[in-house]
Amino acid sequence: MHVSADRLLLFGATGDLAKRMLLPSLCALDGEGLLPERLRIIGTARSALDDAGYRALARKAIEAHLPEERRGRLDPFLARLAYQPLDATDPAGFAALAARVRDGNEVAGLVIFLSTAPALFEPTIAGLREAGLTGGEVRIGLEKPLGSDMASSRAINDAVAAAFAEERIFRIDHYLGKETVQNLLALRFANVLFEPVWNRSMIHSVQITVAESVGLEGRGGYYDGAGALRDMVQNHMLQLLALVAMEPPTSFAATAVRDEKVKVLRALRKVSAGECVRGQYAGGTAGGKAVPGYAEELGAASETETFVALRAHVDNWRWQGVPFYLRTGKRLAERVTEIVVEFRPVPFSIFGRRGAKTVPNRLVIGIQPEENITLNLMAKLPGLDRGGLRLREVPLDIAMADAFSGKQRRIAYERLLLDLIEGDQTLFVRRDEVEAQWAWIDSIRAGWAEAKAAPRPYPAGSWGPAEATALAARDGVRWHDE
Ligand code: BG6
Repeated sequence: MHVSADRLLLFGATGDLAKRMLLPSLCALDGEGLLPERLRIIGTARSALDDAGYRALARKAIEAHLPEERRGRLDPFLARLAYQPLDATDPAGFAALAARVRDGNEVAGLVIFLSTAPALFEPTIAGLREAGLTGGEVRIGLEKPLGSDMASSRAINDAVAAAFAEERIFRIDHYLGKETVQNLLALRFANVLFEPVWNRSMIHSVQITVAESVGLEGRGGYYDGAGALRDMVQNHMLQLLALVAMEPPTSFAATAVRDEKVKVLRALRKVSAGECVRGQYAGGTAGGKAVPGYAEELGAASETETFVALRAHVDNWRWQGVPFYLRTGKRLAERVTEIVVEFRPVPFSIFGRRGAKTVPNRLVIGIQPEENITLNLMAKLPGLDRGGLRLREVPLDIAMADAFSGKQRRIAYERLLLDLIEGDQTLFVRRDEVEAQWAWIDSIRAGWAEAKAAPRPYPAGSWGPAEATALAARDGVRWHDE
């Protein structure tokens, strides 16, 4: 275990992520006595604030984004905060920042969190290095986007690696901080039931959906340059896929878990043009209200996809021949993240002659908004069966909220910030994983560029373009909601 932190230096301290997630998460952890007693939090960003100004900003953000019962005693938390303005593109400012951070102490207990525009990564790392804030045990957390393709991601990773050893770099994918995502590992590896059937002999297909009902949310500047493939598939969805498909790690520890994930990511087969659907939302409805299309919301015509569905394959013994359907998009019918594992049909139905149909078993792992695990099984409809026997799918249902009703539900960043502060890398993404993710994503984008395929329009509030339904239907698969 590393040295526990006594200073957290937060870049992007006045940004949206800091206001919505980071400050509320830190405050919630503090309310439960989980932050090291001596931890000071130094925020930095371009805005010309002083400590009092930053504390006022933090108070407002916490009051807006953290339920009152989780706030604990807000004033002692705010007293941990300080602020130092910095223009990261100007190397001269780092000396003053370093003086503020050091405050006469060694930097051993320093943890840095970078939540800034990608263009600021390299000057920030250089400035930190120059100011002597990168040595010894200093750890750094990096928030996405970490580049926009393999080349830019490597450039960022190289810049970070010049100042920090990989064991001190914590790349965040906030999906790994979600309780239900971690629960996937518990489901697979803390039960004996699933592993023997978790392979090509018993599984017909896997679906992973991350559907959002929101549109651009004012993030057009970033999103239009990224698109759904890079914004969601490159990171969150591939991490989900890796957790579903990986071999059992030898322990729940950083190296063991990440070694297994990266093998899956490297085994992803290149997706062909016919296995991929791009879409962009047109006007439609959301939450019962009329909403504009993407281009109108953006204020310009665009070829960026806000939806992507694709069929992936993991080329190894366990998964040969099992399609993994991935689907994500903005302005879809509902907000839902789920994984659906469809098993193979029974090899022979003894009920067939009596006219009863069987449906393949399905395991549905709901990640959000509902956290539940449902195993759909066939059962006989009660009755004397004089008109023929009838079977129906019935759910074996675990609603996590009921099973663990007394337990606190947390913001994903609470777990990740605490792990960063305590130095546990298990739920962070290693460089080789990120690069395997980019290699696959770049190959898909190269295919798109070659095919010059413009995104298909879909109405806001729908499940995406009809081509996405057809993509799955070719293998006899229906998306779970259709
Ligand atoms: C972010 C994306 O990484 O994840 C956003 O940049 C997206 O576009 C968000 O809305 C979704 O996260 P969550 O936790 O709300 O599912």
